[in-house]
Amino acid sequence: MPNIIEIHDLVKKFGELTAVDRISFYVKKGEIFGLLGPNGAGKTTTINMMIGLLRPTSGSITINGLDISRHTEEVKSLIGLMTQETVVETDLTARQNLEIFGRLYHIPRQELGKRIDAALSDADLVKFADAKAGTFSGGMQRRLELVKSMIQEPVVLILDEPTTGLDVQNRVAMWKRIRELRERGVTVILTTQYLEEADELCDRIAIIDHGRIMALGTAIELKSLVSKGNIVELTVRESEGEAAHKLIRSVKSWSHATLSGGTISVQIEREHAREMLNMLNTLQAKGIKVLSIGMHMPTMDDVFLKLTGSSMRDTTGAQTDTFVRAGFAGGKARR
Ligand SMILES: Nc1ncnc2c1ncn2[C@@H]1O[C@H](COP(=O)(O)OP(=O)(O)OP(=O)(O)O)[C@@H](O)[C@H]1O
Ligand SMILES: [Mg+2]
Repeated sequence: MPNIIEIHDLVKKFGELTAVDRISFYVKKGEIFGLLGPNGAGKTTTINMMIGLLRPTSGSITINGLDISRHTEEVKSLIGLMTQETVVETDLTARQNLEIFGRLYHIPRQELGKRIDAALSDADLVKFADAKAGTFSGGMQRRLELVKSMIQEPVVLILDEPTTGLDVQNRVAMWKRIRELRERGVTVILTTQYLEEADELCDRIAIIDHGRIMALGTAIELKSLVSKGNIVELTVRESEGEAAHKLIRSVKSWSHATLSGGTISVQIEREHAREMLNMLNTLQAKGIKVLSIGMHMPTMDDVFLKLTGSSMRDTTGAQTDTFVRAGFAGGKARR
């Protein structure tokens, strides 16, 4: 499959700050490609260069074989963008929002009318076509924005944090819509702070932090970076966290154990499982009460933790709604 996007050594500096630091990746036609990273990682800056809104400090971006620095207008016509901030015109109706946007692309009136009807239907907004967008819920506004970004029938659709701020139900509904776009052959680039979202949707994922790509691959490939064994999470009283962490880290193969609140996470290879039983005895002997212990297969969060040394949960707080603590007896595994 040909590459529809090729990015080489992309750099963007804002004064002293290097917001994007020598990023390179390609996207294949029909893929959903994810840029996964916390606040300030450089996701929006990368996207703004891809749509010709920002000029790179150095590096190149080619879309559909066209170098964006030389063919800016042509490239712009190939790309649809759903911005991170909601930008619907709240005083206009859903239909008027789509009309105004469609006219920017000089779509003939009759054709535009057809596309708008289809878009309203796609967005489940037919009943609300003539209601002001300002009266819509957050989920409805995001749906309107999604179909708006598709009105000129772009070859590449860029979604900048399409589900940030949405509740779980609306987020899952948005995921379904994005998958449907892939089925229609649209190439999708999406940015997200949600590890679970990248895992669910993306064919390939670039993990980005401080403007750099830390790892790139399929969810399975990325998880395999930490796949030797399961992750054990052990929770003690917060006041005893440091002491328990120190004891656990004193085991040679567990020096990578992390502490967050009273929870210690450690990756344990199968052959070292017995040592965990000994550790539980040691903790008990030291008077440290283990409140819960859970085990799960590595998740994207574990990948992020391993690559960056900090948890996305710590940096963004974005994962709390999907984070399930495994109980002592239940041992419910996370994905
Ligand atoms: N126009 C600008 N001038 C100066 N600094 C900027 C500008 N735009 C972005 N930055 C800085 O560049 C870095 C990357 O920002 P960017 O918006 O690309 O991050 P992001 O990954 O999209 O984050 P978020 O998830 O919060 O949207 C940040 O440190 C930000 O403050
Ligand atoms: Mg952003």
